[in-house]
Amino acid sequence: MKLLVSDEDIKKRVKQLAEQITEDYKDKSPIFIGILNGCYVFMADLLREIDLDVEVDFVKIRSYEADSSTGTIKFRKDISADINNRHIVIVEDIIDSGFTINFLVNRLKGSGPKSVAVASILFKKEVAKIDFEVDYVGFEIPPEFVVGYGLDYDEKYRNLKDVMVLEPKDLE
Ligand code: IMP
Ligand code: MG
Repeated sequence: MKLLVSDEDIKKRVKQLAEQITEDYKDKSPIFIGILNGCYVFMADLLREIDLDVEVDFVKIRSYEADSSTGTIKFRKDISADINNRHIVIVEDIIDSGFTINFLVNRLKGSGPKSVAVASILFKKEVAKIDFEVDYVGFEIPPEFVVGYGLDYDEKYRNLKDVMVLEPKDLE
């Protein structure tokens, strides 16, 4: 495996994103909706750096098997919060094809929120097909398969502190 983004760089960047969000949402009480499972590390780190009244909820969506997108969405868990008239920040580990985030943004918009923003620690900008700006991006990365900081390969490696590139020989 090859180091792509270090633990130290992630910490610094998460702090900057949190400061930006704190500034953008002052006097608002946003609800952060994480996409499980991958978001859990980023969500925990981000929210502890945010100085606002916040709420947290989660959805569970699966579109990836092993190291590639299946092109279909399996919706496994919905939010419990009422998001009508609320400011929402979706928290995602990585935007790859954009398939998952497009699906969730459209679905949440149907419930009448005041606003919907997206925060993703990683963004494969060259391959993502989305027709909106990602509001809070940690790092733009090349279209390679990565693990760590919540991201998995077949449910492994989520607990690595750094983001690492899995090389083809690691996938055998
Ligand atoms: P998308 O729908 O193609 O944008 O992919 C989004 C989901 O696929 C993410 O939430 C991840 O769970 C997973 N995914 C995409 N790229 C990677 C990767 O490089 N490593 C691990 N998981 C990934
Ligand atoms: Mg995910």
